[in-house]
Amino acid sequence: MSSCPHGNKDCAEEKKKEAAPSNGCSHHGGGDKDKKDPDRNFDWKGEEGEEFAHTSPTDQKGTDDDWMYVHGVTATDIVTDLLKAVEKEGEVKRREMVVLDIGCANGGVLNVFENLGVRADNLHGVDFNPAAVEENAKAHPQYKVKLVSGTDYEVDATPTVVFHSGVMCQVEPEKREDFMGKIKKLAPAFYSFVEAENIDAGEEAASGEMMGKHFSTPMPELVKKHLPDAKRVFERRIDHPEGEMKEHWVKECNVECFRLCVYKM
Ligand SMILES: C[S@@+](CC[C@H](N)C(=O)[O-])C[C@H]1O[C@@H](n2cnc3c(N)ncnc32)[C@H](O)[C@@H]1O
Repeated sequence: MSSCPHGNKDCAEEKKKEAAPSNGCSHHGGGDKDKKDPDRNFDWKGEEGEEFAHTSPTDQKGTDDDWMYVHGVTATDIVTDLLKAVEKEGEVKRREMVVLDIGCANGGVLNVFENLGVRADNLHGVDFNPAAVEENAKAHPQYKVKLVSGTDYEVDATPTVVFHSGVMCQVEPEKREDFMGKIKKLAPAFYSFVEAENIDAGEEAASGEMMGKHFSTPMPELVKKHLPDAKRVFERRIDHPEGEMKEHWVKECNVECFRLCVYKM
């Protein structure tokens, strides 16, 4: 993939070789660039983002392979749980759901939603990486994917579900009020995410030593603070697979686990 900050295969291989990563992995740093400017954010909108886009999957199969490596579970497995929870709690069939994926990258997860029964023309995505939006448009012209700056996440329908995965660790703490406020404004029936459930992102991540800064993701606190009326209706703990990825998450990033959460708004 390269959906790091979920980590990624290429990146892990690169790491083994003790070389700088050649793609968008924002956790496994290396290279002089980082050291020169350890406080910078990962450059999603520039060259790094372009490389990320050119090595990321656009389809269900590639996305499942990535997620299996990184999370020990496929995106299909996780999105299946999400859709079932929304169907049950919202009494809405997936054929009728409108989904917005914030930080949808190349559309691999949107493709999972489609293959699990959500109509392609009800799939919306936003991302601020122009190369990823381009890849997405090439692979899935039927999805409504928009290049955004800031939090202009508007879509031309009220979403049933707003979803994000691997995004919150890149949203600076001072911008989170805006980010969560935007979710509230979109007025979705459900809000759902797959994010790290950690209290702090670890020293290396916080200092930018891992190629771009990452920020702590106290998701439950954020939801409580910014979306006080949201009620958690489903959660699934996602434990790291044994091996290299576990070492990476626990030792380098202080991330104990990931979690799928579904909130009714
Ligand atoms: C690590 S990738 C995750 C991709 C995908 N969601 C997944 O889980 O496989 C993060 C993506 O989110 C985008 N992104 C990060 N922060 C964002 C924000 N505040 N608004 C929109 N897109 C964002 C990046 O450009 C990148 O494509």
